[in-house]
Amino acid sequence: MAETYLITGGAGNLACQLTFQLATQNRHIVLLDRADRPAELVSEGCEFVRGDLTSPEDIRSALDKYRPTVVIHFASLLSGNSEVDRPLAWRVNMDGTFNLLEESLRHDVKTFFFPSSVAAYGGSLPKTVPDDFPQWPDGLYGVTKMAVERLGHYYHVKHGLDFRCLRLPVVVSRHAPASAASAYASRAFVETASQGRFRFRVRPTTCPSLIYVRDVLRAIVMLLSAPAERLTQRVYSIQSMSPTAHEIAAAVISRWNSADIDFEVDSIVADLIESWPQELDDTASRRDWGWSPQFDLEAMADDLYSELNSEPME
Ligand SMILES: NC(=O)c1ccc[n+]([C@@H]2O[C@H](COP(=O)([O-])OP(=O)(O)OC[C@H]3O[C@@H](n4cnc5c(N)ncnc54)[C@H](O)[C@@H]3O)[C@@H](O)[C@H]2O)c1
Repeated sequence: MAETYLITGGAGNLACQLTFQLATQNRHIVLLDRADRPAELVSEGCEFVRGDLTSPEDIRSALDKYRPTVVIHFASLLSGNSEVDRPLAWRVNMDGTFNLLEESLRHDVKTFFFPSSVAAYGGSLPKTVPDDFPQWPDGLYGVTKMAVERLGHYYHVKHGLDFRCLRLPVVVSRHAPASAASAYASRAFVETASQGRFRFRVRPTTCPSLIYVRDVLRAIVMLLSAPAERLTQRVYSIQSMSPTAHEIAAAVISRWNSADIDFEVDSIVADLIESWPQELDDTASRRDWGWSPQFDLEAMADDLYSELNSEPME
């Protein structure tokens, strides 16, 4: 019988793209989101259900009905919106996650995957941030990510839940939400392809840790399929690339020669992004489950160029 994977935040950027990776094996995929429908294409056979993480009843009834063996918990308020509406960020990112973890235990969920973020770090950081470096995030989103890392560890140690978490760099994806401050690298490609111009709101020297979405989806599948006995920790960092915004601009211009690119720095946005790590130490991921990235800046830019040229957005 096919295993059921329940993906919260199932209408969003990463969830929709992940369905194609998961669909290659015998799985029933259920996408749960408060949105009306998936924002993008999803693989054939996925089921979509409306549900709000802030409603314990919605969570309980989804687990009662679908009895998933794996929960992939993507639903979240992202960094910008978490600052705009702190009470809602707490209800979704903290209360919603707590309720989902509790219901996962009650329903014998085997594996619970959670995407943490570079935003779970902050303050004064070394250039390469070790896995166990003290976490003092500057933003509420990062505080909630860090707290869920700890919650997941607790549910594993005390209650045996197979919690697996990746601390992700900023993800570059053609479907990155336009409103996210951290989406500048994605938007530079998407808006240049569609409008011929892009204005960076970060500094030319801004260079947080970035990763291409194809590498993220591969990493999630790799971590989910890693044998339990290989895992020495519950939260793993992955690293891919750290180009400056200036280098990203050059990669765009070298592919779209007439691109109109400039910088109009918003210091609030730039400062927040510069408070995140430039590099994460991913030694444990390489050692325990064989992680290594396949896309550097040039490979990513080539891939985005061919995708956006064959199927432009907006
Ligand atoms: N994209 C990145 O750069 C990045 C980096 C690190 C971690 N992450 C994490 O990965 C996950 C997915 O990110 P994404 O880029 O796909 O974001 P996204 O905004 O595209 O998707 C998030 C989804 O969550 C849903 N959602 C929000 N509140 C909800 C609620 N109360 N109930 C039900 N659904 C709700 C939204 O409708 C949306 O579809 C998030 O947890 C994010 O924090 C993303």
